[in-house]
This record gives sequence, C-alpha cells and structure tokens, in this order.
Amino acid sequence: MQVFNNIQDLKPILSQKKEQGHTLGFVPTMGALHQGHLSLIQQAHKENDDVIVTIFVNPTQFDNSLDFEKYPRIVEADLILLSNFEKKILVYLPQLKDIYPNGITSKHFDFGGIENEMEGKFRTGHFDGVGTVLKSFFDLLQPTNAYFGEKDFQQLQIVKKLAALEKLPVNIIGCPIFREPSGLAMSSRNKRLRDEQLQEAAILFKLLSTVKNDFGTKNAKELTQWVEKELKKSKIVTLEYFEIADENTLKPIVNIEKNKKYRAFIAVFVGEVRLIDNIALN
Ligand code: PAF
Repeated sequence: MQVFNNIQDLKPILSQKKEQGHTLGFVPTMGALHQGHLSLIQQAHKENDDVIVTIFVNPTQFDNSLDFEKYPRIVEADLILLSNFEKKILVYLPQLKDIYPNGITSKHFDFGGIENEMEGKFRTGHFDGVGTVLKSFFDLLQPTNAYFGEKDFQQLQIVKKLAALEKLPVNIIGCPIFREPSGLAMSSRNKRLRDEQLQEAAILFKLLSTVKNDFGTKNAKELTQWVEKELKKSKIVTLEYFEIADENTLKPIVNIEKNKKYRAFIAVFVGEVRLIDNIALN
C-alpha cells in the first residue's frame, strides 16, 4: 500500500503508470470501510493493473451539517484494512484544496431530471456535491474504470450521466449490494447504530424482499401503503420515502411495462441516522 496526502506526490506515479500502459481502477469512498467497499476493491483488482482508493468525506454533498460532523472518520482502521490486501493499493487522502482549489462550493449539474427524484427531493444539492467531487477526482486521477455500489443506485445512475455529460473517458461500473447476515445493506453509517437499532434496521431488507415477491400481483399503491403500515409499527425506524421506480428514469412507476426494469427504493431514519436501500424487482 502506498498512501498519498497530496496530488503533487501522486501525479508523477500515476503518469508513470499511464506511460507503461497500465489500466487504473478507481474506488472512491468516504472511509469507514466495510466489506462492501472491499468487494469493490477486489473487483477493481481483477479488472485493472492498478487500483486507487480515495478516502474523503466530501463536505458539499451533505445537506445537513450534523450528518457531516457525525459521519464516521476512522482513517487509521481503514488503512489497516487496506494494507491487508494481497495486491498493492494506492491510497489517496486528498487535502481539501486538491479537490476544491477555488473554494468549497459545488457546481450545478443538469442530469436530465434524475437528480430531482427521491434522494434529490430530500437532500437539496446532494447530487451537485457528488458530481463536483467526482468530476474533480476523475480529472485528477484519469481512471480507466470507476466502481460504485448499487446501494446508492441513484448515485450510480447520476455518475453514469456525469461521465456522459462531461465526456469523461472512464467506464462506470455498478457492483451488487453487500449485506450483513441480517440482510441489512452494508453502509459506513451502520457504524453509528446501537445494537438494538442495528437489529431493527434489518426490517428494510425484509420489507424490500416482500415487495419484490408481491410485485406484479399487488400494484405500487398497495405495496407503498403496506410498507408505510409496517413501518408505523416500529418505534425505532421512521420512513422518509418508499418508491417503486423505473431503473433508468427513476420516475415513479405508472403501469408495469414488459421491457422496463423496476426497483423499489427506501429511505428511513433510525434515530438520527439516515439509511437507504433498494432492490431490483424484475
Ligand atoms: O458513495 C460515497 O461514498 C460518496 O458519495 C462518494 C462516491 C465517495 C463521493 O463522495
């Protein structure tokens, strides 16, 4: 493992590898690494000559300052995990000024409307922040392939749009959700949950699995009402939204069309921790 704290030291290494014809796999993270991140790194290793992992808690994608402050930061533990990888990893812990040389603001992007659905409705400016930080990373690192987990499925679609919009020479690769044995999707935010909350949060996957099972026999309205009713019973988990949407447009389903793919999306609060999850329905 080689750790870089600024772009001046990293740039010559990346240029040298490029000159040698190496492909570069990029795994962007905000740290507090878990098995889901590690699976992205494993896939990146399989498909590239070199792999770079970034750890950067990006301020512009948080619409809530408390969420930003409380986001788990455990860089030392993250580095131990990364150093245990069989293959060598480049790790970049950028300085704020590497990413935001002109001040900490985000650029506004038009992602064709998908930025206004679901997460976009509840987290103002979130996808502008994600677009800004990733555009900055793509420009600095010039990766061949970049890896994103499907837990943040809307983010994955946004990043694909970003690459197309900005004509970036990078392949955006979506990777399956990694789950705890309870079914709870792995997330850095899970580290903020107490045991009782962790147990109760497993309800998300149970609800999504039942929705998947009933999709086609019950309509979207019935399924939504059922999810709302089930979550009202919980004293720990509060629903923010549940939606069944077209995978490509992320617009809510109207009627099931045979050639379209649909997903169910959910966002909840467990105490003050916000969790999201989703499942492919067909
Ligand atoms: O998914 C995340 O962890 C973040 O949104 C990302 C892609 C690292 C950008 O800050």
